[in-house]
Amino acid sequence: MFGPRKSLDSVTKHAEGHALAKTLSWPHLIALGVGAIVGTGIYTLTGVGAERAGPAVILAFAIAGAVCACAALAYAELATMIPAAGSAYTFSYAALGEKVAWVVGWSLVLEYSLACSTVAVGWSGYLVGWLTAAGIHFPPELLAGPHAGGIINLPAVFVALGVMGMLVAGTRESATLNIILVIIKLVALGVFVAFALPAFDGSNLEPFMPYGFGSTEVGGEKRGVMAAAAIVFFAFYGFDAVATSAEEAKRPGRDLTIGIIGSMLVCTIIYMLVAIAAVGALPYQQLGNSAEPLALVLRSLGQPVAGHLIALAAVIALPSVILVMMYGQSRIFFVMARDGLLPRSLAKVSPRTGAPTRITLITGIVIAAVAGFFRLDEIAELANAGTLLAFIAVGACLMVLRRRAPDAPRLFRCPAPYVVGTLAILGCIYLLFSLPSATILRFLAWNAIGLAVYFAYGWRHSEVKRQALPA
Ligand code: ALA
Repeated sequence: MFGPRKSLDSVTKHAEGHALAKTLSWPHLIALGVGAIVGTGIYTLTGVGAERAGPAVILAFAIAGAVCACAALAYAELATMIPAAGSAYTFSYAALGEKVAWVVGWSLVLEYSLACSTVAVGWSGYLVGWLTAAGIHFPPELLAGPHAGGIINLPAVFVALGVMGMLVAGTRESATLNIILVIIKLVALGVFVAFALPAFDGSNLEPFMPYGFGSTEVGGEKRGVMAAAAIVFFAFYGFDAVATSAEEAKRPGRDLTIGIIGSMLVCTIIYMLVAIAAVGALPYQQLGNSAEPLALVLRSLGQPVAGHLIALAAVIALPSVILVMMYGQSRIFFVMARDGLLPRSLAKVSPRTGAPTRITLITGIVIAAVAGFFRLDEIAELANAGTLLAFIAVGACLMVLRRRAPDAPRLFRCPAPYVVGTLAILGCIYLLFSLPSATILRFLAWNAIGLAVYFAYGWRHSEVKRQALPA
């Protein structure tokens, strides 16, 4: 009913010219992970989260982090067991069958590409804030999409296209540059906490949960701790981008385990600190209205130089998130095309750089277009919906493969897999239904289009199906 499954052996063997080069080891992967995780989620959505939950946005970070930790454990086991590009899509192909794999792959397209667009818009917010503070002004119509009274968010478009160019130039250089950018980003958050925490005022935390716990509609907007968790969930994912590059890891067992779990832990600790520092320093209502909330906190505390610096760090470093996510996106499309579910000509890798050039160009242009015209929180929510579905599938794959292939070699074994897998699935379902109804509807529409594409093309061209037919 769910279509043919890939055998566990076949997922790592590929035709010549369609396999990716093994060039990455664990420092690259941890940098890829932290590079993908720390971005617009903490730099910008902290403000949106505070507006939805009040000071309890701290709790929202803890909830989203706990759900992601379960998913990360499941990912780590599956990524070391199936070290092939494609992450949740490839796992689902092996565990749950082609149709589920397609839906997951199609949802991952939302995750990766819309995450890139979201970060591009967040980046633009910090750039504009930074330029304005420096007394440099551009026509406002070119700095925001139509939803905010502008025509197009040109900075967001430029950054997306710039990153696309870097990826087309080749993975290796991009991964090394990524390490430098990750350091800048983390130092900036450290500086933020160092300045904001001493200004902590307990009265800013009262009332702690002005909108309660569950996600409920207040004045046309979803509010409550879960509504905030459903949006700040964005801040945590990206570790799955490490799993996406499994095929390119030199020693998948060691490299991926350290890469995924290490980057997740580092980020969770940092987020809790930043969230406590931010809501402790300023009333939460002020954070929600800013396109650059962390810089706003520092400026409001009478630290304009530090505010300037954090904005500058965001401007320099946030493109690293786009880099990793766009990389992940092109690899997902690459694998789906290699499997025959999308036109195979898309999967051709460049002999010079080892990167799938054609698919990277298509992806980059679409991402830039979305970033130019749409609203940050709406794009982030839809990206979250796609990611949550992928995480649900990953939780299911973990448990199904433990049962179906208990003896298959696993370089990392998730502790208490049935508890972790179930928690990941239930947590993600709860977060998914805490998203605004409009987002859920858009997500369903996206998957309806996806299924139409599958039955029009992939279903008939599937490699797995072709190989299963008698010669
Ligand atoms: N977690 C990434 C970010 O917050 C996608 O930007």
